[in-house]
Amino acid sequence: MSGKNTDYLVLVNDDNRLPEDFEETVEIISVENSFGDKYQIEKKAYEAFLRLREDLLKNDGIQTELISVYRTIAQQEEIFNRYVDKFGLEYAKTYAARPGHSEHHTGFAIDVGIVSDGKLARKIEELLAVGGLFEIVQKKLPRYGYILRYPKGKEAVTKIGYEPWHFRYIDSPEIAKQMTDARMCFEEYWDNKELFI
Ligand code: DAL
Ligand code: ZN
Repeated sequence: MSGKNTDYLVLVNDDNRLPEDFEETVEIISVENSFGDKYQIEKKAYEAFLRLREDLLKNDGIQTELISVYRTIAQQEEIFNRYVDKFGLEYAKTYAARPGHSEHHTGFAIDVGIVSDGKLARKIEELLAVGGLFEIVQKKLPRYGYILRYPKGKEAVTKIGYEPWHFRYIDSPEIAKQMTDARMCFEEYWDNKELFI
């Protein structure tokens, strides 16, 4: 599909399931990270990620890599069930959306790991341990049309724990900046849309 009429501002969360036939409106491409892992991702989201990655490499010496992007509903189910088995239902609900309700289904959400001593952080424990470096990455998101989707302090609104690694492409640096400056999460953007450009 050509990607025409792609709704980059679609809200997918616990209350809003992925719209029917959404995938037909999105141009998904196949890509590979530097570690040879293959992913599928929406085309413009990937191009913007590459620009963000280059900026971080050049100006901050931070190497970022994709660690999870597009997921089918079956893949989300597998992840959710694995978390339940390993860590229990509460943990699973904190870090994984219900199948059909993950924005990873859209192709616009990216999980990004940071490379340190040649090792790519991928597991949630490892990602949480990376800490401060993610703040440098997060500051640069809006200029590339990305937002931090599950910010610290917004857990009651997003219904997801703080995920410093999960970024959402919205295709508008202006809206991303406005939302970030106003300290609003994506749900709050939708509730206050009249305040935005
Ligand atoms: N980790 C996010 C919430 C997801 O599973 O979509
Ligand atoms: Zn994610």
